[in-house]
Amino acid sequence: MNVLVTGGAGFIGSNFVYYQLKNHPEDKVIVVDKLTYAGNLSTLKPIMDKIVFEKVDICDEKEIDRVFREHKPDVVVNFAAESHVDRSIENPNVFLETNIMGTANMMNHCRKYGDIRYHQVSTDEVYGDLPLDRPDLLFTEETPIHTSSPYSASKASADLLVGAYLRTFGLPVTISRCSNNYGPYHFPEKLIPLMIANALADKPLPVYGKGENVRDWLYVEDHCSAIDLIIRKGKIGEVYNIGGNNEIHNIDIVKMICEKLDKPESLITYVTDRKGHDLRYAIDSSKIQRELGWTPATTFPEGLQKTVDWYLANKDWWEEIISGEYQNYYEKMYGNR
Ligand code: NAD
Ligand code: DAU
Repeated sequence: MNVLVTGGAGFIGSNFVYYQLKNHPEDKVIVVDKLTYAGNLSTLKPIMDKIVFEKVDICDEKEIDRVFREHKPDVVVNFAAESHVDRSIENPNVFLETNIMGTANMMNHCRKYGDIRYHQVSTDEVYGDLPLDRPDLLFTEETPIHTSSPYSASKASADLLVGAYLRTFGLPVTISRCSNNYGPYHFPEKLIPLMIANALADKPLPVYGKGENVRDWLYVEDHCSAIDLIIRKGKIGEVYNIGGNNEIHNIDIVKMICEKLDKPESLITYVTDRKGHDLRYAIDSSKIQRELGWTPATTFPEGLQKTVDWYLANKDWWEEIISGEYQNYYEKMYGNR
């Protein structure tokens, strides 16, 4: 099978590429990535001879057409996106372009080349948020779409388009909506890697608001195994929620990281809250567990330890990132916060 992975130089996409090579060595993997600030070719360096890499924007009609003609994918897995909520608050437009128009462009080519199987990697953020004081409430696949940020609105728009291509054109599609991932190759603008990098440098650990917001954490390899099951065994037209049942307050995660790195909690600095900050995400993933037999393999304590160990062992990877343009980003986002 020829598997076309967009966004394969990013966090989850690259982990998925590694997962594919390990578990389906007979398949051919084609990676399409524009290499934005979030894409890192060094992540794929050890496996460059085992994959096809195309530096292409998913919005580029001509180039995506060439990629489909040359590499004849059997399945497209669309990870490519602008993915950071804070950046979407600063500059929404690129989110609309990549996350919506890019999705449409990929599906148009799936249609053109014979109704190729298409999987959309979506997010639990399309469901909005849940109250902090109702632990009984979880997002199911039936929860109405109700978004908060330009990022989540762009992802929800893409999901609606995917549904429209199913109903109107009969394109064989699936959608997965996953909770917060963590693990190797996570870009250090996101909570866990940012806190690890700052703590190691004895820099302040900027917690938004009171740190009481809750996220439902899933080790990235478990997200990859779920998507792999969906593209091979999932039912066309279905949405699958993916989550780890690991609801944790942000402040508790930051404290755990301090403890693991033997750093004082006095580094924790409460800063101005994110605009429109979603309070709590919590996923009910019973459908994919029941219908496809998926279960997450990594508990949060194991996963967090593996992640901290990975960042300690791979300083070159992230120090290179935070030494460049990231400095300007950090100053702009956190300088006067
Ligand atoms: P990321 O920001 O780490 O990586 C995104 C990748 O897409 C980068 O390699 C980037 O270069 C590439 N890209 C961006 N714009 C592109 C374009 N126009 N054309 C081609 N490539 C482009 O993101 P991530 O955290 O790995 O997320 C991957 C996907 O999973 C996204 O669709 C995101 O919405 C979804 N998701 C993420 C999480 C999470 O916790 N990170 C959870 C659920 C769903
Ligand atoms: O739920 C899935 C989503 O998870 C994905 O769709 C997004 O692509 C992904 O980025 C992630 O979104 P979040 O906004 O939840 O992740 P982030 O790591 O940016 O923030 C996690 C929580 O930590 C959130 O409540 C904001 C808070 N936070 C974040 C940063 C970067 C802080 O308190 N301080 C920080 O410096």
